Amino acid sequence: MNILLYLSGDNITLPKAEANGLIESYTENKNFSKIYEKGRLYIFSCEKFPFERMSMAKIMCEFIAHGENLEDVAKKVAARISGTFRVTSYAIGNFKDPALEQRFGEMIKKHNEKLTVKLKNYENEVMCLYSENSYVSGINKNRENFIQRMPLNRPFTVPVTMHPKLARTLVNLARVKEGAQILDPFCGSGAILVEAGLMGMKIFGKDISEYMIKGCIKNLDFYGVHYGAENLKVGDALKMKKKDFFDAIVTDLPYGRSSFTTNKNLTQLYDKFMITAYNLLKEGKFAIIVSKDGVDYDFYKFKLVEEHMVRVHSGLTRRICVLKKE
Ligand SMILES: C[S@@+](CC[C@H](N)C(=O)[O-])C[C@H]1O[C@@H](n2cnc3c(N)ncnc32)[C@H](O)[C@@H]1O
Repeated sequence: MNILLYLSGDNITLPKAEANGLIESYTENKNFSKIYEKGRLYIFSCEKFPFERMSMAKIMCEFIAHGENLEDVAKKVAARISGTFRVTSYAIGNFKDPALEQRFGEMIKKHNEKLTVKLKNYENEVMCLYSENSYVSGINKNRENFIQRMPLNRPFTVPVTMHPKLARTLVNLARVKEGAQILDPFCGSGAILVEAGLMGMKIFGKDISEYMIKGCIKNLDFYGVHYGAENLKVGDALKMKKKDFFDAIVTDLPYGRSSFTTNKNLTQLYDKFMITAYNLLKEGKFAIIVSKDGVDYDFYKFKLVEEHMVRVHSGLTRRICVLKKE
C-alpha cells in the first residue's frame, strides 16, 4: 500500500518520527520504501499502516499519484476509484486555487464516466494537495478525534497532564503493536495509558500518589480501557523489581513542582530510574522518556536512538528521548 501523509506542523521532528515508529512496529513492513519527501509531505510504501493510530498528521491518504500535470493525476485517480466521490483540496503554501476542486472533479469524471460526484455520503473522498505547480492526490482516510480526551474533557485532570496527541505519539515511538505489555511507571492521571489502552496494548501503571492512581482509574474506566487491578498500583517506580518483562516503557518523569525542587534532585531521580527501567525492559525494546529539558541524566546502558524537543510554555520544554535496550 502507498501512503501519503501531510505531517502536523506542531513540531519539526516528532511527526515523521511517529510515522517511522509506527512503520517499525510491524514486522510486515520490512520492505518499506520511501517514494517522495518534501517539507511536511511524506509518501512511502509499506505493507501495513494503521491510520487510526497515527496522531501527528494533518492529512492521511492512501496515495494515488503526484505530478505537475493535473490531467495526468486525474487520470490515475479515475482508474483507481469506483462509485461516488467528492474532491477536497488543500493548498500547501500561499498559492490558492478556489476552482481546483470542481476542475479536478470534472477531469476525474471525464476519465471514468461510471463515477458520480456526490458531496455528501460519498464512497471516496479524493484529496488534492497542491502548490502553484504540483499536485498530490489520494483517498482520504479517517483520523482520530482527540477532542473527547482533551484534559478538560476527562473526568480527572491535573496541571501536569499531557495532551492526548502527544501521549499517543510517545506510544507510537515505542515501536509496539496491539497486545504488547506497556508500562508507565509515573502514570499520573494516565494520559499515556489511555492512549496505549485504546490502541490495544496491555497497560501497566504506577504512581507514588494514591490520589493520582484513583484519578487514573477514573480516566481509564471513562474511556473504556480495560486493565487488570494488579496492573495499576500505588508505589515507587524506583523500587519496581520485575526483570525483562515489558515490551515498552513510556513515561513522563516528574518535573520538580513539589518535592523535587532542585535540578540536582531531579538528576538523581532520573539517573536511578534509568537503571530500574533497563532491568524492567525486555532486550531489543524501547523506553520513551520525557523529562524536563535542562536536567541532564545518564542513559545507563541504553542506546540513544533519537531525541525531540517540545515547548510547553516559556518555563517548560519537554525533552523526549527514544532509548533502546540492545
Ligand atoms: C509529570 S507527572 C506525570 C503526568 C502524567 N503523564 C499525566 O498525564 O498525568 C509525574 C508523576 O510522577 C509521580 N511520581 C513522582 N515520584 C514518583 C516515584 N518515585 N514513583 C512513582 N511515581 C512518582 C507523581 O506523583 C506524578 O504523578
